Amino acid sequence: MARGFRLIFASSLLLMLLDFCRGSTIGVCYGRNADDLPTPDKVAQLAQLHDIKYVRIYDSNIQVLKAFSNTGVELMIGISNFDLLPFSQFQSNADTWLKNSILPYYPATKITYITVGAEVTESPSNVSALVVPAMKNVLTALRKVGLHKRIKVSSTHSLGVLSRSFPPSAGAFNSSHAFFLKPMLEFLAENQSPFMIDIYPFYAYRDSPSNVSLDYALFESSSEVIDPNTGLLYTNMFDAQIDALYFALMALNFRTIKIMVTETGWPSKGSPKESAATPDNAQTFNTNLIRHVINNTGTPAKPGQELNVYIFSLFNENRKPGLESERNWGLFYPDQTSVYSLDFTGKGAAVMTTAANVTSSNVTTWCIASNKATEMDLQNALDWACGPGNVDCTAIQPSQPCYEPDNLVSHASFAFNNYYQQNGATDVACSFGGTGVKVDKNPSGINSLRVIGNLGDNQPDSSNRI
Ligand SMILES: *[C@@H]1O[C@H](CO)[C@@H](O)[C@H](O)[C@H]1NC(C)=O
Ligand SMILES: *[C@@H]1O[C@H](CO)[C@@H](O)[C@H](O)[C@H]1NC(C)=O
Ligand SMILES: *[C@@H]1O[C@H](CO)[C@@H](O)[C@H](O)[C@H]1NC(C)=O
Ligand SMILES: *[C@@H]1O[C@H](CO)[C@@H](O)[C@H](O)[C@H]1NC(C)=O
Ligand SMILES: *[C@@H]1O[C@H](CO)[C@@H](O)[C@H](O)[C@H]1NC(C)=O
Ligand SMILES: *[C@@H]1O[C@H](CO)[C@@H](O)[C@H](O)[C@H]1NC(C)=O
Repeated sequence: MARGFRLIFASSLLLMLLDFCRGSTIGVCYGRNADDLPTPDKVAQLAQLHDIKYVRIYDSNIQVLKAFSNTGVELMIGISNFDLLPFSQFQSNADTWLKNSILPYYPATKITYITVGAEVTESPSNVSALVVPAMKNVLTALRKVGLHKRIKVSSTHSLGVLSRSFPPSAGAFNSSHAFFLKPMLEFLAENQSPFMIDIYPFYAYRDSPSNVSLDYALFESSSEVIDPNTGLLYTNMFDAQIDALYFALMALNFRTIKIMVTETGWPSKGSPKESAATPDNAQTFNTNLIRHVINNTGTPAKPGQELNVYIFSLFNENRKPGLESERNWGLFYPDQTSVYSLDFTGKGAAVMTTAANVTSSNVTTWCIASNKATEMDLQNALDWACGPGNVDCTAIQPSQPCYEPDNLVSHASFAFNNYYQQNGATDVACSFGGTGVKVDKNPSGINSLRVIGNLGDNQPDSSNRI
């Protein structure tokens, strides 16, 4: 009896730990404000093809729920701002919705979060006061069917909930929102639900390019911004904005609430005023974001803290109003070809390709050090690759196999090429501050170099498959 109990206890603890230990994750938002998107069945296939395991939708559309059944993809579903009134008024509305719209598809369709309202502080009609009552009714409905521990209830916010976000340590909620935020934070803390935030360094840069550097917004900055109160160093705006939120929560003594980023991303096209909206910048932002998150880096105030992030958005959405950028946040065109390539694993294993361009995983390009770069730039880039870049540079140490020829260009080429092959062989992975050069012939100069790739083997790179 006691033993049986212990066994059950131990196995459920293990399950909990496994769940907890899955680390930081990357998902994608599946917005459908368009008239030319593929059917949900096709979208579910597309997600699986690209190893997308977490998808956020903005409603509980039955076709979408059905399409994702038995795919293993975890869904975050939503209740729109328009529905907050009925959900907040009567418990029976929440009960009926759960019974008719969700339970028939669960658990074949894995649903793990319900967002009740979206960015209510940005809503033209003042629905803020309805959010917490609606959240409570949804939670009660879940509790009645025993699902309140498996499906978390929260609500998403824009960074507009803060009245101050710089320096991060001075982060503070706008007191005008306290009337609904305070009870919401109590609800989240009590139910171990995350605070959900949509974060857009793109807008911060677009709206004040003189105060924000593009590199800082794109995770490409080589300099740091120091928070004078804490001494913490920030190399990117994403971390600074998340920490502003952590500090705002701490200032109100909510120390256990975790943050989840329910939207972030970068548009690939914009109006003339939005010159930073390019495919290159979008690829750079999202590639760096994924690496940053998957690596479990955390933020300066919360190093190593798990962070789950959703990229906005799966498709370009042609019916969104507003500036050109609004319709160009997608990773894919409606015909399912990719707008730019992106590796969701953050490790360079499965490079996303267009349907017409399924390139093999053969090594066909190399990245070497430019012989035009200055010695100092090369040395810095080499140090970065062998340090933060995680390249194993043992082989270029004295008396090791790749030490000869003993010169900076050869050593840097070894490190650059290893980094490049390990990180998806994308253009970005061969930038090294302008000191890297992509070549499509195995250059004689690096014939003797070895690629230590994902397989961990030591074949000469000319015949190596990564
Ligand atoms: C929104 O409504 C709440 C209460 O219903 C009120 O306290 C608050 O001031 C309103 N906010 C705005 C901006 O009108
Ligand atoms: C706080 O929110 C109110 C109501 O939305 C807004 O009018 C005000 O400008 C905000 N204050 C700051 C500092 O952002
Ligand atoms: C840049 O920052 C300064 C000082 O904080 C501020 O006065 C100015 O309005 C900002 N400029 C833009 C374009 O946001
Ligand atoms: C990955 O994590 C390590 C250790 O936490 C850190 O030093 C490194 O900068 C991180 N890399 C990226 C790309 O964030
Ligand atoms: C395939 O990918 C390569 C390298 O990224 C690119 O140069 C080429 O234009 C692509 N081909 C098609 C048909 O998209
Ligand atoms: C490269 O990949 C293609 C397609 O996967 C394969 O047919 C071919 O044999 C590979 N070439 C080498 C040299 O491995």
